[in-house]
Amino acid sequence: MSVPSENIPTTCKALVQEGKEIVLKETPTPSVGENEVLVRVRAIGLNPIDVNTYRFFPTEGAYIGCDFTGEVVKLGPNLKVDLKVGDKVSATIVGNSVGGRGAFAQYAKTFSDIVWKIPEGTLSFEQAVATASPLNAAFQALYGAKELGLTQHFDSAPSEGTKNTWVFVYGGSSGVGQFAIQLAKLSGYKVVTVASPRNHEFLKSLGADAVFDYRDPDMVKKVKDVAGNNISHVLDAIAGNDTQLTAVKVLAEHKPGKVVAVLPLAEGIQDVRKDVQVAVVNIFCSYGFGYAGLGPDDDARRVLSAFLQKVPELVKDGKLKCIPVKKFEGGLEKVVSDGFEYIASGKVSAEKVVFTV
Ligand SMILES: NC(=O)c1ccc[n+]([C@@H]2O[C@H](COP(=O)([O-])OP(=O)(O)OC[C@H]3O[C@@H](n4cnc5c(N)ncnc54)[C@H](OP(=O)(O)O)[C@@H]3O)[C@@H](O)[C@H]2O)c1
Repeated sequence: MSVPSENIPTTCKALVQEGKEIVLKETPTPSVGENEVLVRVRAIGLNPIDVNTYRFFPTEGAYIGCDFTGEVVKLGPNLKVDLKVGDKVSATIVGNSVGGRGAFAQYAKTFSDIVWKIPEGTLSFEQAVATASPLNAAFQALYGAKELGLTQHFDSAPSEGTKNTWVFVYGGSSGVGQFAIQLAKLSGYKVVTVASPRNHEFLKSLGADAVFDYRDPDMVKKVKDVAGNNISHVLDAIAGNDTQLTAVKVLAEHKPGKVVAVLPLAEGIQDVRKDVQVAVVNIFCSYGFGYAGLGPDDDARRVLSAFLQKVPELVKDGKLKCIPVKKFEGGLEKVVSDGFEYIASGKVSAEKVVFTV
């Protein structure tokens, strides 16, 4: 049910950091500026960063949450992308920081060029919200010029070189991993990944050519063997100290390689092999913000935005499948007690925690 713009309330409920707690409070409904759209939020998706920021780096006054879906209810001036009131969108924002706004609210705003329209009759708001940050991170990690620099082949046939290029995805059942597998396969690459055995068949159904158990002591050998010792690109979607080291180890020794990690680099990882380029992906930089020592990246934003315009078609054609959804009841009031708790307990496995708002 859409909200006519004259009925937009002046205040709305939002989750905000107060001391060590996150509280649901009445806040001013965000105003929209240049290139911004206001969305009546219908579903939110939780990411590890939301939980980790709250647990380890709480910031007084921060509006919580990054991923949301809903209907556009108001347009700011000079939108970069053609959107209209009533459009259903999947959106992200740099949440959990002061000065901005968060996704975990009844109304949230973001920039027109980092949302994609949910095609009618395809995904629910809950499914589409599972396709926000993890999709953007996977895209940026694979195709970003500063990251793996792979070639997109969503509209064109892959070259022979592409078809013979092996990509290793560490953590294929994570949200980022699931999209990385799908995107790399859509572009024609060969993909090997690791996950718990219960997720192997699922990851093959997403396109993975081979899947192994990351707890298997012979995992590195098996991954290298299946790819004929020819892996040149690795996306580490887990990015612990140990996984980053493994990421370098699976690369073919006879040629230069590239590794991209979703979290800060392990100390000394760049020195393990001088012919391996190691980088960190950060989607906030592609949204135009600096984060954790990385600067805003306007080029990355343009490339991401162009891709997001293609996402509705990929979804409509069934080429891009969303992460299986684990839906929690209770709305915004239960996000911290139930959703954050579930994620912090390490139970997430090949699923996205979502709430209806
Ligand atoms: N830099 C960025 O811009 C950016 C953006 C988004 C996310 N991230 C980060 O990326 C990471 C992944 O996020 P996400 O939302 O995709 O995570 P997620 O879906 O919550 O990850 C859960 C998955 O991790 C897998 N896993 C856990 N430990 C593993 C290990 N040692 N080896 C292989 N797989 C393992 C589990 O696999 P099994 O159940 O199969 O065991 C589970 O399916 C997080 O650290 C997040 O903060 C970064």
